[in-house]
Amino acid sequence: MSSDMTSPVRYGTSLNQRKDSVFCWRDFLKLVCHPLSDVLPHWPSCPMDFREVAATYARETKWLFIRITEAILESLGLWGATTEEKTEEDDEILKQFHDGSQLMVVNCFPPCPEPDLTLGMPPHSDYGFLTLLLQDEVEGLQIQYKGKWITVEPMPNSFVVNVGDHLEIFSNGRYKSVLHRVFVNPAKPRLSVASLHSLPFNCMVGPSPKLIDQVNPRRYKDTDFATFLEYISSCEPKKKNFLESRKLT
Ligand code: OGA
Ligand code: NI
Repeated sequence: MSSDMTSPVRYGTSLNQRKDSVFCWRDFLKLVCHPLSDVLPHWPSCPMDFREVAATYARETKWLFIRITEAILESLGLWGATTEEKTEEDDEILKQFHDGSQLMVVNCFPPCPEPDLTLGMPPHSDYGFLTLLLQDEVEGLQIQYKGKWITVEPMPNSFVVNVGDHLEIFSNGRYKSVLHRVFVNPAKPRLSVASLHSLPFNCMVGPSPKLIDQVNPRRYKDTDFATFLEYISSCEPKKKNFLESRKLT
């Protein structure tokens, strides 16, 4: 249990235990997943098959992340669908994602006797590029859409794919990161596994130069993980405040 946001394995309660004024009704286990061979020895060795199962899960979600990212890059006109259309520059960005950061967060939301007094997680957006979320059959996740909170109905054998702040910045605002929260209930525990993916940890994230022109001026400042981690370590994260701080007006 550590408040060091860069430690390869952490468990805890709430978001930022030192700064949150109200604790969230959540326990979590966070595993840094990249580079896998470096972090694996730090992961829990009990239960005995934990490392193998979690490592397989990490590899498979990474594979899915890359497939979805290819489609997103194609939708932005940054990656050709056919080999003839591809340029070296286009492949460069995908290479960066192959070597990108990956974090696995296992969330447990125990039943809460007074669910109206707290939340499992307060409204926030994820700071990576994409989050692949596996939720069990218990409702809890809500996204904000047109000012209203909409429950994301659990669908067996499927992932919820959330757009994160880095994709909003990278796409210069064409994709919007989603504001979401988790509510709790008095009857059933809820489990979810979030797999957060982005560019390499030391990389600057900024709008793709190909998406900036006279009609579409640069809308965000470049940012990096270090700035973000400093930000969430120093205050109570509120909504999309970090992203707001990166916006150029
Ligand atoms: C998260 C998150 C939602 C959920 O871990 O960032 O938003 O349903 N989780 O557990
Ligand atoms: Ni989230």
